[in-house]
Amino acid sequence: MTERELLNQAIDARKNSYAPYSHFCVGAALLGKSGKVYLGCNIENATYTPTVCAERVAVFRAVSEGEREFSAIAIVGGGEGEKLLALCPPCGVCRQVLAEFCPPSFPVILGDETHTETHTLGDLLAFSFTDKELKK
Ligand code: THU
Repeated sequence: MTERELLNQAIDARKNSYAPYSHFCVGAALLGKSGKVYLGCNIENATYTPTVCAERVAVFRAVSEGEREFSAIAIVGGGEGEKLLALCPPCGVCRQVLAEFCPPSFPVILGDETHTETHTLGDLLAFSFTDKELKK
């Protein structure tokens, strides 16, 4: 699976975004080590706080189906009915959730229909709190 293919799956996943409040639609595609891809979109709520980001939907889908090891995630976002942002970086909470299951070398693929750019999770979430701290 190329970075472009995974990003295209994130673009498809974004079509299901439920964002009637922010009108900002995000899609994520998480590649499991098994080769299976887990898609996610953001799902908002009238009381706002229960809103869940696309990335966490993808991670929780995967984990709930028994997959806990991942090769990469692709993320796209942009205003409803608008062109995708060139880059839609994951929020801090999603970075933390990814860090629960993925190492610092984990590739986070960002981009739009034409451009792709890959960052490591370690760059996006430096000096993070993980299970290692709890075991000290
Ligand atoms: N959002 C995501 O889905 N992922 C992110 O990493 C950033 C933000 C969603 C949450 C909310 O529905 C909308 O984008 C605006 O913040």
